Amino acid sequence: MAHPVSPYLVPGFYDSALAKGRHRDIVGGRWDETGRIQMQILRDAGMQPDHRLLDIGAGSLRLGCKAVPFLNPGHYWATDASRALMLRGRAVELAQPDRLPEHHLIEDSTFALPGVPPTMDFAIVFGVFTHLPLTTLKAALIQIRPRLPQLRRLLFSVFLSPDPAAGSRRQADGVVTHPDRPPYHFSQFDVMQACTGSGWHATAEPVMLPRGQVLIAATPAP
Ligand SMILES: C[S@@+](CC[C@H](N)C(=O)[O-])C[C@H]1O[C@@H](n2cnc3c(N)ncnc32)[C@H](O)[C@@H]1O
Repeated sequence: MAHPVSPYLVPGFYDSALAKGRHRDIVGGRWDETGRIQMQILRDAGMQPDHRLLDIGAGSLRLGCKAVPFLNPGHYWATDASRALMLRGRAVELAQPDRLPEHHLIEDSTFALPGVPPTMDFAIVFGVFTHLPLTTLKAALIQIRPRLPQLRRLLFSVFLSPDPAAGSRRQADGVVTHPDRPPYHFSQFDVMQACTGSGWHATAEPVMLPRGQVLIAATPAP
């Protein structure tokens, strides 16, 4: 049987998991740790309460439940392939849901960011490109660049392999990644080339992320 491009594309995946109350499991668990790390990455990149943050592929707001109380009300925006998942996170995980207007949660699986204001200061795409092929990463970087002209930093995570075509690879944290199915790994060269080719200056950051992911920090090239 052919592998699905992404587990999130399995028909009925979100409905079934949400019906079982598994909104935390859908995004991979390790709830508090992974949310904290994302907040730390953003704080290290200079995010302040008056900045605007876009969380792309935000899931059930594992980061949002920490970023929303930190940011000024209304300064957090999110997209995901499932709006129902984000709404569940807003309802269940936010201490003060009123700080996050519902219309800031936008369903989008194309990275076209429909309805997202161009005024974002920071954007993060955590644990999303790990489930998608390199062609999607490239297309996403091309789409995002002109839509967020004021962005100070785009942060995203990937799995890397020194020789992606050589086959599956066991990452530092034990996760096995693949060149041709999720979870995907890429070569650092390909990721950097995808960034440069779509108008970003990017570096791989020396920070330890869950499951052996690598953090890429990108700034818009002039
Ligand atoms: C591992 S979870 C990470 C969620 C969130 N970034 C976090 O760290 O908690 C991956 C998320 O990517 C979303 N996703 C998968 N494919 C997507 C796509 N093409 N566009 C936007 N979101 C997508 C899924 O719905 C899921 O919420």
